[in-house]
Amino acid sequence: MQSLDAFAAGKLDELERKHLRRRLIETTRVDGIWAIRGARRLLSFSCNDYLNLSHHPAVKAAARAAIDRYGAGAGASRLVTGNHPLFAELETRLARLKGTDAACVFGSGYLANLGIIPALIGAGDLVLIDELAHACLWAGARMSRAKVHSFRHNDLQHVEALLAEHRPHHARVLIATDGVFSMDGDLAPLTSLGVLASGYDAWLMSDDAHGTGVVGHGRGSSFINGTRADVALQMGTLSKAIGAYGGFLCASKPVIELLRNRARTFVYSTGLPPAMAAASIAAIDLIEREPQHAALPLAKAQNFTRMLGLPGAVSPIVPIVIGDAAAALRASQLLEEEGFLVVAIRPPTVPEGAARLRLAFTAAHPDAEIERLADFVRRRIPVQ
Ligand SMILES: Cc1ncc(COP(=O)(O)O)c(C=O)c1O
Repeated sequence: MQSLDAFAAGKLDELERKHLRRRLIETTRVDGIWAIRGARRLLSFSCNDYLNLSHHPAVKAAARAAIDRYGAGAGASRLVTGNHPLFAELETRLARLKGTDAACVFGSGYLANLGIIPALIGAGDLVLIDELAHACLWAGARMSRAKVHSFRHNDLQHVEALLAEHRPHHARVLIATDGVFSMDGDLAPLTSLGVLASGYDAWLMSDDAHGTGVVGHGRGSSFINGTRADVALQMGTLSKAIGAYGGFLCASKPVIELLRNRARTFVYSTGLPPAMAAASIAAIDLIEREPQHAALPLAKAQNFTRMLGLPGAVSPIVPIVIGDAAAALRASQLLEEEGFLVVAIRPPTVPEGAARLRLAFTAAHPDAEIERLADFVRRRIPVQ
């Protein structure tokens, strides 16, 4: 269709002009930290495989054995014939890790958020959501058809003011936030949010995609500083520190049972490949058995922020805000020439004028390379 192609080409031109066009660049990850791009071998700081478990021999062996035994795909929705026994084991392990009675595994983290929120909240209800929450929390909130109000990032007073004003007018209220913010690396004040939520009979949901496995002794952002925040809905992904693929929710038994009946992305989507369940179980084994390993990505990020005099890291994610999208692309290019893969993050992933380098530290990053990176950033990268 001529008009369709003209529309697409026009939109692409507009993105190009604003330095916001994205391109797929073939990249082969050869282990937990090194990647091949074109003729270059690069040390990657742009991967969420925080514990390098996607390449761990035990995790790979578990996936391989599951494929050999059960095949590649699940074959159907879990409610039809795709409910492989490995899912029950994985859900028991996730619930134990997060200290809940039950868990439900979804096809991905994105699918989990799209399924969870509309299954619990609907027209006439209210969602309060952190302005910097991940795109898929926003998508789930919007799909629910509830009234959606965003609150200023991590601003408890703003949450309380919104609750005081709007709570009386809605039957059900959900408060949604990332546990660890994906582009800033900071933590949500989950303990205080939990207290607020229970005071107003609101349901608190955290997206712990970037906390699971790496903060709170590997248990995630509800378990920081030895306390346990009162988070009714702990969502997460199997695709980052766990090193496999898939998403999950940990919650009470009735909530999980309701989601298995009502979350559309669970009911109407094929089950996760059994190999991903097997790999995730093996990864959780390692996370639980080796808490000292789970602590390494944060320690490495803290070393880096110390070397550069940046605010101390509280998760393995460290942003270096550049501002302008074109300048962020140039900085990323400079780093690549130096052997570092640090992808520029531009709007709409981050707010306008806040393009940045987003560094993700992993357990296996060599200290000497982190020093070399810090030294290069200090000398060559114009930080905002
Ligand atoms: C905060 C957050 N939530 C959810 C997701 C989606 O998870 P998944 O990649 O498993 O779909 C991501 C990342 O991609 C994320 O950063």
